[in-house]
Amino acid sequence: MFCILYQSTKTNKTPASDIYHQARINNGIYGITGCMLQTSEHYFQYIEGPIEPVQNLMANILADPRHSDVTILHQVYISSRVFPNWNMGYFNSTSELMKQLENCDPNAPMFVQMLLEFMTTLYDTA
Ligand SMILES: Cc1cc2nc3c(=O)[nH]c(=O)nc-3n(C[C@H](O)[C@H](O)[C@H](O)COP(=O)(O)O)c2cc1C
Repeated sequence: MFCILYQSTKTNKTPASDIYHQARINNGIYGITGCMLQTSEHYFQYIEGPIEPVQNLMANILADPRHSDVTILHQVYISSRVFPNWNMGYFNSTSELMKQLENCDPNAPMFVQMLLEFMTTLYDTA
């Protein structure tokens, strides 16, 4: 299995609900799980599953005009899922940590770790 974490910039007023409804249906078919956060300016999404569907989905996501500046922050082979029960967890995040993350340099070494810890905390408390 494989996972990808990316950040992107919202480009239009497409309601995120349109995106995650479609995501949950498609991801269920392809065995993809993960978590998506929306802030005022960005999407942050973690996707995981068998490598081919994950890479196909990432190609779709890269070409999707509903966002721009899609930047892969982290991609790696994994032996087990982090979000096994979520075809796509979705949070409209206004928390202080997300506000800090939004202003943080995605190239900073701690960024990926903080983002993943934040997502797994949401999963553990859901
Ligand atoms: C921020 C963002 C996140 C997305 N996440 C997913 C996803 O997890 N799963 C998915 O199937 N499509 C997702 N999409 C939509 C894909 O870019 C693409 O529209 C979709 O995979 C095409 O599905 P279709 O072949 O059923 O038309 C996302 C789009 C955006 C803008």
